[in-house]
Amino acid sequence: MASPVSPFPPLRRRRSSAAAIWSRSIAGCGNCHSLQDANGPLPGRELAGGPPIKEPPFDAYPSNITPDVDTGIGAWSDDEIVRAIREGISRDGRMMGPPMPFALYRGLGDDDVRAMVAYLRTVPAVSNTVPASVYRMPLPDSWGPPVAGVQPPPRADRVAYGAYLAGPVGHCVECHTPMGAKGLDLARLGAGTREFAGPWGIAVSRNITPAAMGDWSDAEIKRAITRGVSRDGTPLMPPMGYGYYAKMTDADLDALVAWLRSLKPVE
Ligand code: HEC
Ligand code: HEC
Repeated sequence: MASPVSPFPPLRRRRSSAAAIWSRSIAGCGNCHSLQDANGPLPGRELAGGPPIKEPPFDAYPSNITPDVDTGIGAWSDDEIVRAIREGISRDGRMMGPPMPFALYRGLGDDDVRAMVAYLRTVPAVSNTVPASVYRMPLPDSWGPPVAGVQPPPRADRVAYGAYLAGPVGHCVECHTPMGAKGLDLARLGAGTREFAGPWGIAVSRNITPAAMGDWSDAEIKRAITRGVSRDGTPLMPPMGYGYYAKMTDADLDALVAWLRSLKPVE
C-alpha cells in the first residue's frame, strides 16, 4: 500500500512518533490487550494478551500483540498488522469481532497506523498463548471495503483533529454514544448511557456533550479525562483508561476539549 505524500512534509516525523506514543496513551490498546492494575500493565505483561471481555453475544480474548513469533504477531508483516487494525481481518483471513472498534479504526491515518505498528515491534516479546474468541453472533463479511490513503485532518484545525482523536484514535465516541437498532445512535453523539460491567460493578458512560459539561472549566474536563475525577471530586470507574489518557500531550488534550465543546448538546 503506497502512502500518499504528506501535505506537511516537515511535520511528518513528529506526527509519526506521536502516533507511536498514542498506543500507550489515547489509543489505549493496552486497556484491552494487557493484564493490568491501577498502575498500568503488570510487569512483563504489556500487550501480551488481556483479560477476557464477556458479553452475552461473545467471549472475546484480546490477543497477544507483542513481537513473540509463536504466540504473538512477530511473524506478521506490517501490512498484515495494519489490515488487522483497520479492517478487522486476521492474518489467516478470518473476520475478527467486537469489542475492538474496527469501524472507527478504519479512519486511522496511513502514517499513524504505520507508526503504531512500528511501536508494536518495540515492546518486549512475551510468550503467552491466548484462547480464541467465541462469538455467538454473526460477524459481518467485512467491516467495509479495503482501507488505503487515509489522511488525518490537520492538527491546526483543533475541532476536526479532536474529532479524529475521539473517534478513530481513541474511540471515546464508541463508549459515550448510545446504541440504537443499527449501531451507534449518532444523532445522540456523546450522550452516554452505555453500561460496562466488571469487577468495579456497573459503570454507565456519562453525557459528555455541552448539555452536561458546558459549564465545566477546561481544567475540570482534563482532570476527569486524565485522572478519573469528576467535577465534584468523586472518582470515576473503569473501563475508561484514565491512566493512558494521562500520557496525552497538552496539544492533543486541548484538541479533545475543543471537540467536546463543539458537540451538539444532548439532554
Ligand atoms: C476494546 C478492546 C480492544 C481494544 C481497545 C483494542 N483491541 Fe485489539 N483486539 C481485541 C480483541 C478482543 C481481539 C481478538 C478479536 C478476535 O479474535 O476476533 C483483538 C485483536 C487484535 C489484533 C489481531 C491479533 C491476532 O493475533 O489475531 C491486533 C493486531 C490488535 N488487536 C491490535 C490492536 C491495537 C494496535 C490496538 C490499539 C490501537 C487495539 N488492538 C485495541 C480487543 C481490543
Ligand atoms: C471503554 C469505554 C470508555 C472510553 C473508551 C471512554 N470513556 Fe469516558 N467514561 C466511560 C464511563 C463508563 C464513564 C463513567 C464512569 C463512572 O461513572 O464512574 C466515563 C466518564 C467520562 C467523563 C466524566 C464525566 C463526568 O460527568 O464526570 C468524561 C469527561 C469522559 N468520560 C470523556 C471521555 C473522553 C474524552 C474519552 C476519549 C479520550 C473517553 N471518555 C473514553 C467510558 C469510556
